[in-house]
Amino acid sequence: MPISAAKLIARFGSPLYVYDLAVVRARAGALATSISYRPFLPLYAIKANPCPAVVRAIVEEGYGIDAVSPGEVAIALRLGVDPGRILFTENNMTDAEMVTAMQQGVTINCGSLDRLERLAAAGGREASVRFNPDIGAGAHEKICTAGPLTKFGVHFSQVEKVARLEQGSGLRVVGCHMHIGSGILDAEVYARAMAVILSVAERLPNLRFVDFGGGIGIPYREGQPAVDLAALGAQASTLMGAFTARYGRPLELRLEPGRYLVAESGTLLTTVTSVKRNPDTAQASGRTYVGCDTGFNHLVRVAMYDAYHRIDNLSERDAPLTAVDVVGNICESGDVFARARLLPAPQLGDILALRDAGAYGMAMASTYNTRPLPAEVVVDGDQVRLARPRQTIEQLLDASIW
Ligand SMILES: Cc1ncc(COP(=O)(O)O)c(C=O)c1O
Repeated sequence: MPISAAKLIARFGSPLYVYDLAVVRARAGALATSISYRPFLPLYAIKANPCPAVVRAIVEEGYGIDAVSPGEVAIALRLGVDPGRILFTENNMTDAEMVTAMQQGVTINCGSLDRLERLAAAGGREASVRFNPDIGAGAHEKICTAGPLTKFGVHFSQVEKVARLEQGSGLRVVGCHMHIGSGILDAEVYARAMAVILSVAERLPNLRFVDFGGGIGIPYREGQPAVDLAALGAQASTLMGAFTARYGRPLELRLEPGRYLVAESGTLLTTVTSVKRNPDTAQASGRTYVGCDTGFNHLVRVAMYDAYHRIDNLSERDAPLTAVDVVGNICESGDVFARARLLPAPQLGDILALRDAGAYGMAMASTYNTRPLPAEVVVDGDQVRLARPRQTIEQLLDASIW
């Protein structure tokens, strides 16, 4: 990065989300080149990081958008993305949301039979259907989005119902979709789910695309192996090649990663505001708590998914390594970023970097404890730009009617 963390904080304040667009572009390019099959349209699952500067960089790499809410569709449209390249993967959408999406001209990816029926009844001409291949995956049960315990998708065994609905209406099912989970590092589970989805796709005669979803994980832990992207891309390409030969015409392949494209680009910088050592007691040996000026309101992944984020002390590189608990400033005992983490002994005023925070970080941030949202900055080569100013307490309070 062209500018030190200390300078960034001096200029933009703390805590601060920083995204390096070079990393985003590199990941977008790597994923696109892993797929040899054509036609191929990669989508970006905007939910991972909706910061407009980040989304724009990915769109400029040739990506369309997977949006899961009207707000995400609005971001894509405001950035000038062609509606034909936006997939609205609905989840329990309302009729009003459905009508808006139809007017916007985006493809609605229905996650239930009744929503598909409502779309047909409302005069919808085209839809995609999200199927549950009954094979789930993911780094945590809360991010497993297929299998028996999920609210998502039409079970793959119900494809005949989808086909009958299509025959009896003016609606064409043009897309066959799955998204089995998030944080997947094992390419093999994908391949099994893809095969199920392709068996479903064979029953749908009007398809234009097959979408294998997102879910590609990243190595959050030191030494953790990365997903074998080449193997994954080769598997998807081979399966699609064989399928389109059987289907009789080439269908577009789509993937819709979120985390893979943005996680490693992001760092949450925070400043140490307190260091305390609890004394040893008869029950337990004392711990050292390193408190900082952010918390799970800004990065909830550790509290919510037991996630692991690498943490670097950017200020005290030569201090002795010490086991510390890194905790936030939210009034909750679960506000813990790391337990017994070995760091160069942090001191007041040190800057800590929570790594790989570019996905589901700011996107999931809240104002719990009436704490404002942090600022976001993008680094683009030797340029540093403010992407979102820090929210003020006044702005937070002014959102309510007094
Ligand atoms: C429908 C859909 N597609 C794609 C994604 C992106 O997943 P990931 O960030 O794991 O690639 C998600 C995330 O949960 C999703 O819900």
